[in-house]
Amino acid sequence: MEVKTSLLDNMIGVGDMVLLEPLSEDSFLDNLRKRFDHNEIYTYIGSVVISMNPYRSLPIYTPDKVEEYRNRNFYELSPHIYALADEAYRSLRDQDKDQCILITGESGAGKTEASKLVMSYVAAVCGKGQEVNKVKEQLLQSNPVLEAFGNAKTVRNDNSSRFGKYMDIEFDFKGDPLGGVISNYLLEKSRVVKQPRGERNFHIFYQLLSGASDDTLKKLKLDRDFSKYNYLSLDSAVVNGLDDAANFRTVRNAMQIVGFMEDEVQSVLELVAAVLKLGNIEFKPESRSNGTDESRIKDKNDLKEMCELLGIEQSVLERAFSYRTVEAKMEKVSTTLNVAQAYYARDALAKNLYSRLFTWLVTRINESIKAQAKTRHKVMGVLDIYGFEIFEDNSFEQFIINYCNEKLQQIFIELTLREEQEEYVREGIEWTNIEYFNNAVICDLIENNQNGILAMLDEECLRPGTVTDETFLDKLNTICAEHQHFESRLSKNSKFLTDHSLPHNCFRIQHYAGKVLYRVESFVDKNNDLLYRDLSQAMYKANHSLIKQLFPEGNPAKVNLKRPPTAGSQFKTSVGTLMRNLQTKNPNYIRCIKPNDKKASHIFTDSLVCHQVRYLGLMENVRVRRAGYAFRQAYEPCLERYKMLCKKTWPHWNGPAREGVEVLMADLQVPAEEFSYGRSKIFIRNPRTLFFLEERRRQCLQDLASLIQKIYRGWKCRTQFLLLKKSQIVVAAWYRRFAQQKKYQKIKSATTVMQSYARGWQARKLLRELKYQKRCKEAVTTIAAFWHGTQVRREYRKFFRANAGKKIYDFTIQRIMQKYFLGLKTTLPSMSPIDKNWPVRPYRFLDGVHKELRRIFHLWRCKKYREKFTEERKAVYEEKLEASEIFKDKKALYPSSVSQPFKGDYLEISKNPKYQKLNSAVDEKVLLADVVNKINRANGKGTARIFLLTKKSVLLADQKTGQVKASVPLPDVASVSVSTQSDGFFALKLKEGSASAVKGDFLLSSERLIEIITKLHRIGATTADRDQLNIDISDEFLVQFKQDKVCVKFIQGGPKNGSGVSCKRKNNRLLEVSVPTTA
Ligand SMILES: Nc1ncnc2c1ncn2[C@@H]1O[C@H](COP(=O)(O)OP(=O)(O)OP(=O)(O)O)[C@@H](O)[C@H]1O
Ligand SMILES: [Mg+2]
Repeated sequence: MEVKTSLLDNMIGVGDMVLLEPLSEDSFLDNLRKRFDHNEIYTYIGSVVISMNPYRSLPIYTPDKVEEYRNRNFYELSPHIYALADEAYRSLRDQDKDQCILITGESGAGKTEASKLVMSYVAAVCGKGQEVNKVKEQLLQSNPVLEAFGNAKTVRNDNSSRFGKYMDIEFDFKGDPLGGVISNYLLEKSRVVKQPRGERNFHIFYQLLSGASDDTLKKLKLDRDFSKYNYLSLDSAVVNGLDDAANFRTVRNAMQIVGFMEDEVQSVLELVAAVLKLGNIEFKPESRSNGTDESRIKDKNDLKEMCELLGIEQSVLERAFSYRTVEAKMEKVSTTLNVAQAYYARDALAKNLYSRLFTWLVTRINESIKAQAKTRHKVMGVLDIYGFEIFEDNSFEQFIINYCNEKLQQIFIELTLREEQEEYVREGIEWTNIEYFNNAVICDLIENNQNGILAMLDEECLRPGTVTDETFLDKLNTICAEHQHFESRLSKNSKFLTDHSLPHNCFRIQHYAGKVLYRVESFVDKNNDLLYRDLSQAMYKANHSLIKQLFPEGNPAKVNLKRPPTAGSQFKTSVGTLMRNLQTKNPNYIRCIKPNDKKASHIFTDSLVCHQVRYLGLMENVRVRRAGYAFRQAYEPCLERYKMLCKKTWPHWNGPAREGVEVLMADLQVPAEEFSYGRSKIFIRNPRTLFFLEERRRQCLQDLASLIQKIYRGWKCRTQFLLLKKSQIVVAAWYRRFAQQKKYQKIKSATTVMQSYARGWQARKLLRELKYQKRCKEAVTTIAAFWHGTQVRREYRKFFRANAGKKIYDFTIQRIMQKYFLGLKTTLPSMSPIDKNWPVRPYRFLDGVHKELRRIFHLWRCKKYREKFTEERKAVYEEKLEASEIFKDKKALYPSSVSQPFKGDYLEISKNPKYQKLNSAVDEKVLLADVVNKINRANGKGTARIFLLTKKSVLLADQKTGQVKASVPLPDVASVSVSTQSDGFFALKLKEGSASAVKGDFLLSSERLIEIITKLHRIGATTADRDQLNIDISDEFLVQFKQDKVCVKFIQGGPKNGSGVSCKRKNNRLLEVSVPTTA
């Protein structure tokens, strides 16, 4: 069978005593020692953890360790208190079983440390969150507060719990802490007023004096010096390794975290201070007149300060220390107290004050840490109760403490030894009984209601008459003498008569853990726990909120004459309740063992350990465990838990649960010796088998989870797929519809097109046919017409002339022509040759005729016009014509001359008497007479001269006198030079070598230049004996002045030159004529 290897295999010694071979007390101790020497302080006996106190801090409580043990199986790792805590926490969380952790062992064995480790582990592994962390913090911080007030240094333990503590931590279904409830059991209050040698009072007194600030101490009216207080023993006030001052700060901080208000803390400290003050009140006797002694307070200063602290009227308290009032039904008797009684009263008050303060603290802490939610809680109880104690001098407290330990041992025996063995028998499992010591008999000796020690003590306390510790011992001697665990010198049992180790005022009980000698002194008082009513009433009157609460019985309105229950019976009741509570829960044991008595590390005192091993019944535990079965479970839950490991039982088994489990075990092939079938339960021998089952279950759960996951995923995918499919069908349907619609539309439109084409084609065909038919008809009609025509013409031809058509044509043309000519006649234009009008042609074919007629008409019109001319006019026009031939388009002056008639004689020489002389000098007819400018070569300026032209010569005469200045016969004139421009300059060039040429050429200027030159040219043309006159038209020509030739150059001047023509001499050889630019 394959199981995960347990770390138990590779351990120092044996991690689980069940595996110890051979099993004997020696080997047991050897194993413990070996492991202790190697710092392995934890060892298992099955599921029970043995814890050895290492008396030094080991590195095995780190957060890493917490993580290591978290969620691991109990036997998987080396033994550790964390493994137990984890197991308990997980079965609480996962299996919904309330748990209790029972930590037992003698004083100083490490119970309180173990309880703190369990709590811190659970706090570390449970849920996190702001609220949860607060709860955790409050639960954890309740420890330092209670330890400060309830722990003290004893000879066995520097931090000995002097009260019993049971704490229920409440969790919700997730395993998150919700809160807690603390129950406290019987504080050893006698310690407040007196401590055995080598021991201290409760830590808080020393912490307050060492750690409080001067200011606080002043407020509390305290002195830092321990020796100032009677209640603080001096010999061991300072403990090595205990920093009271630092612890005080821790306690104050813890109180704050737990939720104490500042004024509450102050009240608590005031009470602590008051107890110290109370201890300092001393009494002295004072004789009274009646001869009795009455107590008086020695020094009232402490009383005064205490009263100030608690807000009590000093006189009231003073009186309470001096008198005692006893109230019977109807009467009230007041007696004075002697000094001893006063001291008793003082101490009683101090003890009550302190113990009530402690109870109040627990209640106050409970108020803070109680679970808020009202839902069902799962509970983990942690029991850390004072350990078994054997002192030199054992009193009532030790008796009570040891009784409690007896009860715990009893529960251990009940649940692990007796119950287990009885269960095997009950279940019909083959079983050889293992002997063990059952301490029920001792418990009975103490708690029996009829003759138990506690019952007898109560009886004594309640009995009228004189009751002393001795009467109580007597009673014990008479009643318990026969009890095998009771020993007393005075008992009738002669066995102890000579036992000198047993003093007369003592009795001895053989506890499960050893014999303890109890001194009966003050048993009755401590059991009565009496506080004089005067004191409780004085306290009630205090003007201090906390004190008033602590002494409710002091309220005069609520005087209760009934005796309060005794301390012993109270304790018995609460222990009974505790035991019943523990029995309802699943127990987890931590058995603490103290290795030595010296509080020293590394020392292993065999005898001491052996003693503890014996009385703790560890050997028996191992034996029962080895012979028995590690695990048992009813068939139903077992089948329910493991049914998934077998196909036949999974998922449902229809038969009885036992058969189902049998099938399951057979299927898993668990060896037969590993388990047994009981009547209602299956018993599994070895934890490994359980391990194996758990491991298989874990795997199976994983597989199941995978299966569920698989099915879920499958279902999810399938649902998704079906959804997709459905949507796909819808989409496809819509798409197909759409596609079909589209296709149909296409086909429809295609059909329509085809139809239209077909119809078109048909229609066209029809049309063609119809057209054809129509054409045929037309053709037929035409043919018929032609045919008829032919026929008719053939018939009627004889009635028409053959050329009638031409004639009609000619006639028509004639008529048109006639009409044209007649029309033209009426629309002819005027006779003026320059009239450009001509009627529009009516027919195009007459185009040529029309143009020709226009030309002819124009020629005719010109001829007619010419015919109207006289000879002179004709000559004038001839002259004009000649001028045109000479100058047109050659000289710019010409156009202006066209409209001027050539008058010739402008000076009317013959008629003007002024020119008579000149006229007489000219024998020829004057063809032209006009004034010209003769240009002076020297400056270009002109001189006015009369220019005369006759058929034979040219004359120049003075304008004023008419005297002839020059006469040039025309044959001497070789040529005339003119410019191309609009000026009137002209040069008469004379033939070289002629007589006239002596004086040089003439450069003249006249406005009538065109007329003069034309006339000069005409004379040359009409005179037969003369050469044609040359006319040179150029803008640059030479003029022969006497000897020199001067060049006359014409330039076009801008408008700036003025409107007139100017001539300037540029140099000897150049005359420059500027002619205004013609526009
Ligand atoms: N696991 C541990 N690691 C280190 N030191 C330890 C451990 N357990 C106990 N101790 C030491 O032993 C001392 C006594 O332990 P603890 O107070 O837990 O004893 P106890 O069993 O509660 O005694 P009592 O019955 O007197 O209250 C502690 O103060 C501490 O110094
Ligand atoms: Mg303790």
